[in-house]
Parts: sequence; structure tokens; C-alpha cells
Amino acid sequence: MTATTSIHGMWSTRFAFILAATGSAVGLGNIWKFPYIAGENGGGAFVLVYILCVSAIGIPIMMAEILIGRRGRQSPINTMRTLAHEESRHGFWQMIGWGGMIAGFLIISYYSVIAGWAIAYAFRALGGAFTSLNGETAGDLFGALLGDPERLLAWHTIFMVMTTIVISRGVRSGLEQAVRVLMPALFVLLLLLVGYALTSGKFMAGLEFLFLPDFGALSAGGVVTAMGHAFFTLSLGMGAIMMYGSYLPADASIARSTLIIALMDTMVALLAGMAIFPIVFANGLEPGAGPGLVFLTLPIAFGNMPGGLLFGTLFFVLLVFAAWTSAISLIEPAVAWLVENQGLQRVRASVYVGIVAWLLGIVTIMSFSHWAFSFDFAGEEKKNGVFDLLDILTANFMLPLGGMAMALFAGWFMARASTRDELAIGEGSAYRLWRVLIRYVAPLAVALVFLNAIGLI
Ligand code: TRP
Repeated sequence: MTATTSIHGMWSTRFAFILAATGSAVGLGNIWKFPYIAGENGGGAFVLVYILCVSAIGIPIMMAEILIGRRGRQSPINTMRTLAHEESRHGFWQMIGWGGMIAGFLIISYYSVIAGWAIAYAFRALGGAFTSLNGETAGDLFGALLGDPERLLAWHTIFMVMTTIVISRGVRSGLEQAVRVLMPALFVLLLLLVGYALTSGKFMAGLEFLFLPDFGALSAGGVVTAMGHAFFTLSLGMGAIMMYGSYLPADASIARSTLIIALMDTMVALLAGMAIFPIVFANGLEPGAGPGLVFLTLPIAFGNMPGGLLFGTLFFVLLVFAAWTSAISLIEPAVAWLVENQGLQRVRASVYVGIVAWLLGIVTIMSFSHWAFSFDFAGEEKKNGVFDLLDILTANFMLPLGGMAMALFAGWFMARASTRDELAIGEGSAYRLWRVLIRYVAPLAVALVFLNAIGLI
């Protein structure tokens, strides 16, 4: 039968799991990525589709991912192998684990580079570089960073070392305390920024852009991006949440934890959007400015508000921490697998994984300068070559497909009794709703979005 604990350790309580999973979910995806892709895809309609995807696809799949992880109690590869065996299914289901591990490497490789931007900006904030910034000078400041691969490499290296150190000590140590303090602090600073946006004179324009749906502005590719982001922002589809689920005590409620995590994650993203778009419009910036959007807008706010030196530094430091608690979840499955199957010590496994991720990251660094090239996706011109390709491949394809496979496994290939016992919400309407969502709604929605995007429907 399945184990009741994991060899890699356990969360002490359900609350510790919620903190860790929220730490994984809330990261650059909410503050850096969500605003810029919402901006590139016309705002309101994109945001609406994203929220729909979080509710109808993300939440049920997160529950499935956690329950699978808790039942298997190992790295996603071995968990899927064990459960497939237990349910008398074919061994190919472990491909979910393999694909997820590869997606994790690809994502961490660029995630770490962007986290490096945040470190750079924390120092710039502290050094007073934001003072009286406007739209144009903010662009110069950002351009100078992107055009300097050596500098990017230094920050990327520091972030990867930070991540490797934490992961080598086990995901539990420090994570809980860190998230408990940092998340509320980040939240307060976002509120402060929304407060500044209120004074920018363009607050309503920002809100309208974000919340007034204009479906004409949303392409089929934009719908794929919105769906992909629902997976990305909730850390779904590659086994990160499965891994964290494997450390969850047997008696903790999966459904309630999931709702809390998804709610907090969505609130952070929407707050970030509400802070950023008014500044975009007040300073003559472009909503579709791309991956630099948050680094072009918020420094203007900090540079023009009282106490901006302190708040700006604090904000970017917190952003780095939020990225840190997400990054470790991206490589935990690979580290756990190396420990389980290759008999490596945790520290050694972490170092190997860290080195591979660090090397891959160099491609992203060069994508912003020497190796840049452009192409079209979702009716949008993408200017940053391999970085954009990696982002699209992982977030728009690998995560939704991984999530769909998990939904199919939990909905159709696990016995009803297995998922019912694991979710432990009884046999009533909540369980039945989940089952409809996981069997039909989530897989079909993913399939329809893809078919639509390739022009078949
Ligand atoms: N969710 C994180 C963010 O929004 C990123 C992340 C962490 C992630 N773990 C993941 C994304 C696993 C996809 C899969 O910043």
C-alpha cells in the first residue's frame, strides 16, 4: 500500500503546506508576467479568460495534483509509476513525471534570469537610481541592464546559488517562516503601490484596461496564453505541486487548501495589475511593452513617492524572495528523483540540478542582446528569441498538456474510491462537482483551446 510519509520529510501541519504552496504559486508569474502578458493581449478579456481558467481548470487540477502526490509520496516520476501500478494502469503515465521534470528545468533556467533583474533593481532602488524617473529614463535604465550580459550573468548566478543552497537543505527548513512574513509584507507593499496608482491621475483608465473586457482585442493565441498562465501562476502541470502534496499529512483537507492558495495567488496578480496599468497610462508607456513592463513602471512610482527609496528597495527584495520560494519548487521534483533513483545525497543532487539550470539560463541571458531575434506569436511580435520560445513552449504547451494528463489520470484512470478517499470531502455535491470538472471540463477546455489556436475550430 501507499506510504503515509515521504522519505524527503513532511510538512508539520496543513498550514505549513498552504504556506509552501502559496510560496510556490506567488512569484514572478504574478508580479512580472501577469501584467505584461495582460498588456500584450489587450487587458480585460484576457484577464477574464485567465480568471475562468483558474477557477474551472486550475482549481480542480490543483486538487488532482495534490491528491496524486499525497497518495504516491515520492518524486512525480516515481509517484506516477506507483499509482499507475496500483490502479493497474500502463507505466507510460510516468511520462507526466518526466515531462514535468524537463519543463521544470526549462522554466527555472529563465525564471532565474528574471529573478536576477529583480536583484539588480533592489540595488538600484537602494542606490537612488529611481529618483524622479519618467517613462523615457526608466526605459534607458532597463535597457542598460538587458544589454549587459555579464551583469545579467552575475545576478543569475547569485540567484541560482541562493536557490541551490535552500534546496540542498530540504524544502522545509526556513520556507515556512520566510513565507509567513514575506507574503503579508509583499501584499502591503502592493497595496501601497495601488495607493500611488490612485494618485497618478489614470487610475480609472488602468482599471478599465484590466477589467473591461474587449473581446476584439483577444486573439486565439491570447486565449492559449491566458490558459497557460493559469497553470504557470498556480505552479501546475509539471509536478511541483504534486511534490509538495507528497509532503502533506494524511488528514489535511486538500480542497480547502487549494481554494486558499488559488485565492491568494489571484489577488496578488490583480493587485499588481492595478498598480501597474495606471502608471503605464500616466507616463505614456505601452501596455504591450513586453517582459520589461514591471521594471519600467514601478520604478517610476517609487522614484516619485515619499519614502520611495525605502519602499522601492523593500519591494524588489520581497520580489526576489517571492521568486526564490517559487524557484525551489521548480527543481524539487528533479532533486527528489535523483535522491530516490540515483542514490545521491541531497546536497550533491541539488548541486547537479543547480549547475544544469545555471547553464541553460545563459541562453536566456543572451536572448536579450546578442542572440535576440523576433517572431510572431498570438498576433504579437516577440522580440526576445529563445527566451520567448522557452516561455511559450513551457507555459503555453507543456504545462497545460501535463495538467490535462493529470486530469485524465485522476478522472478516468484512478478508481473513484481512490480519489474520493484522498479528497475526503464525502460523496456529496462538492466531490461530484470536482469529478465533473476533472473528467470533462478541464481536459475538454484544454483541448478546445488548443484546437482553436491551431485553427481547427
Ligand atoms: N507559480 C510561480 C510564479 O507564478 C512559478 C512556478 C513555480 C511554477 N513552480 C512552478 C510554474 C511550477 C509552473 C510550474 O511565479
